[in-house]
Amino acid sequence: MPNPNFQLLPATPEDVPAFADIFFSAFKSHFSDQCFPNTPAVRKHWIQGLEKDLQDPDNIILKVIEKKDDGNNDVIVAFAKWTKPVEGKKPGPLPEWPEGCNAQLANEFFGNLKDGHVRLMGEKAHWFLGLLGTRPEYQGQGAGSMLLRYGLRKADEEQMDTFLEGSPDGEPVYLKYGFEVRERVTVMVPVDGTQKPYGNALMVRKPRPLAA
Ligand SMILES: CC(C)(COP(=O)(O)OP(=O)(O)OC[C@H]1O[C@@H](n2cnc3c(N)ncnc32)[C@H](O)[C@@H]1OP(=O)(O)O)[C@@H](O)C(=O)NCCC(=O)NCCS
Repeated sequence: MPNPNFQLLPATPEDVPAFADIFFSAFKSHFSDQCFPNTPAVRKHWIQGLEKDLQDPDNIILKVIEKKDDGNNDVIVAFAKWTKPVEGKKPGPLPEWPEGCNAQLANEFFGNLKDGHVRLMGEKAHWFLGLLGTRPEYQGQGAGSMLLRYGLRKADEEQMDTFLEGSPDGEPVYLKYGFEVRERVTVMVPVDGTQKPYGNALMVRKPRPLAA
């Protein structure tokens, strides 16, 4: 049962700093410690990237807010970036990584994810979930599912496939929503003089048949 005070809304440019906060609090791993430490330069990188994403008409960026009883101080608890199906569209080039990011590791990981995306989906139009994050203190209350269901409903209506790169936290949630793991991308992350693996699952969901 989702939190009854949650509401799904389109994002606005004013929401972007809150999305960066959610990003840094939700995405915690030895990989993000190396590639996206919470520094001013990395924060700026995410804010500029999200502002650009918001201007792209192919993207649908959504937020879930918790409505407060007094009507003030609503909290942005989660956000997602969906990219609409566009025939012939391929993932864009990798960005320039900010100071403080292990650029070699980021290029290897995100380059391999991008290659996998192209290999699995080609130029066929499909829905793409590029980002999904919920503030840790609000996880398990249904916000992620609200954001996921938005795109999956459209994919079913349009009978389109959906693609995403599932993090270790996200993968079990996506399996529940009908995604299948097609490939895995793993990189070795240097941690305290050793190498620790980190991976994402390349996942595809076929549309549910339309009700007769
Ligand atoms: C993955 C993520 C977005 C899910 O968001 P969420 O708001 O917690 O999602 P929901 O509350 O809708 O939960 C979805 C399912 O996951 C489970 N779940 C998620 N977080 C949980 C938690 N902290 N405790 C218990 N169950 C949890 C629930 O069982 C739920 O299943 P159900 O519908 O059968 O009850 C969130 O865990 C997150 O932000 N993780 C870190 C960032 C990340 O890895 N994002 C995914 C990128 S691919």
